[in-house]
Amino acid sequence: MERIPVLNVENLSVSFSQYMGVFRKKQIQTIKDLNVRLYQGEIVAVVGASGSGKSLLAHAILGILPYNASMGGRISYCGELLTQERVEKLRGKEIALVPQNVSYLDPLMKVGPQIRKNAKDKLSKERTLNTLKRYGLTEETERLYPFELSGGMARRVLISTAVQERPKLVIADEPTPGLDAASAKRVMGHFREIADDNAAVLLITHDLELAIETADRIVVFYAGTTLEEVRASDLAEGSKLYHPYTRALWQAMPRNGMHVEEAKL
Ligand SMILES: Nc1ncnc2c1ncn2[C@@H]1O[C@H](COP(=O)(O)OP(=O)(O)O)[C@@H](O)[C@H]1O
Ligand SMILES: [Mg+2]
Repeated sequence: MERIPVLNVENLSVSFSQYMGVFRKKQIQTIKDLNVRLYQGEIVAVVGASGSGKSLLAHAILGILPYNASMGGRISYCGELLTQERVEKLRGKEIALVPQNVSYLDPLMKVGPQIRKNAKDKLSKERTLNTLKRYGLTEETERLYPFELSGGMARRVLISTAVQERPKLVIADEPTPGLDAASAKRVMGHFREIADDNAAVLLITHDLELAIETADRIVVFYAGTTLEEVRASDLAEGSKLYHPYTRALWQAMPRNGMHVEEAKL
């Protein structure tokens, strides 16, 4: 029997219409022919430079592209087309986002109600406490406001908010900026646990080293399109990289001597 992917992005394109002067409208294509497929229990990293369209990919999946964007191609979730109507029902439940920016937290709402999306029943409250505990946060964290959290705590609260409803698909958009190496590693450990819990995790990052350490497969994304898909273990060795851009990314990693000149393609 063929396994059905949790998420299947086929030939995705995203373009923007922009006015050049008053009358001329120009279409700018940002993502073209992008393919990504995710199965239950795995972490797939999408690695690409800043501005390459990684967040747009996340927003296209979540149905939250800006109003001037138009999308082509096909996105399916668990074997069925993910329409705008369907994604709106699943978002925040089966499909969850761990956002790039801590400012996604509501500054006027305490952590507890924020994690359980204001649900007041006993089960939701119990779940919140369990989630906090799971991420090494004390019970008191529930009663704190976002400004009272350290950077690392806020990250863990964002993850707690995403996993409260036991999602099947978690999209993490650059989940580790501003964290030291040890904290980033811990956060990555949490994503592995989420995947082991039978979810599929799409890890969006510009950090190839982090992707190699965490993901099962890595999709290299450049100028809006998929260049190469590699197993993380192959990338760790650096031996089975075909595309020059992927090789350059790899050579630019600190452990490979940071050959930045070669990375400037
Ligand atoms: N609302 C918009 N209007 C026009 N262009 C946009 C808009 N949002 C994003 N873009 C374009 O899409 C590109 C990719 O953005 P983004 O997905 O945020 O990159 P990444 O997350 O990889 O850093 C940007 O460089 C920008 O040119
Ligand atoms: Mg981004």
